[in-house]
Amino acid sequence: MYQMGSLSLYRKSLFHISVLFLPCFIGVTYCLEFQGLPPLISPPLIPEILNFLDQRLALVYPIIQVFKNTITSDPFHITQTWVGPDICNYRGFYCTSPPDNNSAVALASIDFNGFQLSAPTLDGFIDQLPDLALFHANSNKFSGSISPKITKLPFLYELDISNNNFFGNFPMEIFRIPGLSFLDIRFNFFTGTVPPQVFSLRLDALFLNNNNFIQKLPENLGSTTALYLTLANNKFVGPIPRSIIKASATLKEVLFLNNLLTGCLPYELGFLRELVLFDAGNNLLTGPLPCSLGCLAKLEQLNLAGNLLYGQVPEVLCASGKLENLSLSSNYFTKLGPKCRKLMKKGVLDIKKNCINGLPGQRSVLECKAFSMHPRYCPYPASFNLIPCKVPSSSSHPRTGPKRNLVSYSALSRHAVDFQE
Ligand SMILES: *[C@@H]1O[C@H](CO)[C@@H](O)[C@H](O)[C@H]1NC(C)=O
Ligand SMILES: *[C@@H]1O[C@H](CO)[C@@H](O)[C@H](O)[C@H]1NC(C)=O
Repeated sequence: MYQMGSLSLYRKSLFHISVLFLPCFIGVTYCLEFQGLPPLISPPLIPEILNFLDQRLALVYPIIQVFKNTITSDPFHITQTWVGPDICNYRGFYCTSPPDNNSAVALASIDFNGFQLSAPTLDGFIDQLPDLALFHANSNKFSGSISPKITKLPFLYELDISNNNFFGNFPMEIFRIPGLSFLDIRFNFFTGTVPPQVFSLRLDALFLNNNNFIQKLPENLGSTTALYLTLANNKFVGPIPRSIIKASATLKEVLFLNNLLTGCLPYELGFLRELVLFDAGNNLLTGPLPCSLGCLAKLEQLNLAGNLLYGQVPEVLCASGKLENLSLSSNYFTKLGPKCRKLMKKGVLDIKKNCINGLPGQRSVLECKAFSMHPRYCPYPASFNLIPCKVPSSSSHPRTGPKRNLVSYSALSRHAVDFQE
């Protein structure tokens, strides 16, 4: 696919963005005034004989060549194509006219996904490409730090450095990118804490999964504007903040699975009206399920397997019309009403390894007794029975079309995230 003409591929890229990120793209990329940037580099030694399509390409030529010389491994011989003046046909490089000049041609996008290039740093490379709007480098072996000079890139809005060898603390430099709307740093070796400001950025997608972040979930988590939020496979602790309700107009997919979250599920979850996927499996969450979850009219997948949840599975949740997968196995639920039993027979509800009398595949009486001896307490106990919506009258479960490709679940593989639905 990388052999395709650069322009058409960039348009394809624009297309997926126009579906997903249109407001941001217009707002950030095309409405930004070009601020007459000073040259980021000292005047380079551009070979006079090379005939560049545009002066802007001549300017980035030496930057690319210097970077090329730092690459220590290139198993697919990508950099062999990085020769001569035709930068727009180098593999991984895409040009289009920049927002500030319709008749110019500029290096707008870099897509190194899957190239497996090794280089000690991207410092001095992406921060020196003034027209860059997208940088995607999934599955390479880049390391080092992100240069603070990245703030000089007025058009950059997608940064994907997933599945690389970045380590150390959260890359604070990203806070200086003025128009960032897509941040993907999953599958690296970042550790320490995620600064709470991340949840105040105007992002559409935030992928932090499969790092080594160790901290309490920040209280301002709900300030996020992201549609896709993946914090899975880290060491987040503490309860899911009630502030999550603030994201009720935007949040579509949330992955908290495989962390060390504690506490009870907040009633406020039931207000996330755009929610399609919520996965907090394999944590230490406890308490009953809030009945408010039955108000999530768009919810298709709810995974809370492998926690310490108990009580009755709310009938109102099982009646929720769009549910395709309700995974509650390996908890301590004790009661299941008729609607939930129907869902179980359909294979939508998995309630194995719980404490439900008379159902096969449950925990032993001893195990259930030991669990129930342990007193547990949730704040705002009355909130668990509240249903803050008009409940649908029947549970017809219309079979929806072909299974949709959930963006967040594709973020759990090391590959580039697939936005095509
Ligand atoms: C726009 O780009 C063209 C082609 O590079 C250039 O000749 C022209 O001077 C630029 N216009 C402005 C206003 O910068
Ligand atoms: C339902 O979701 C769980 C947890 O994500 C997954 O393991 C299981 O395979 C899913 N079941 C179906 C039928 O898709």
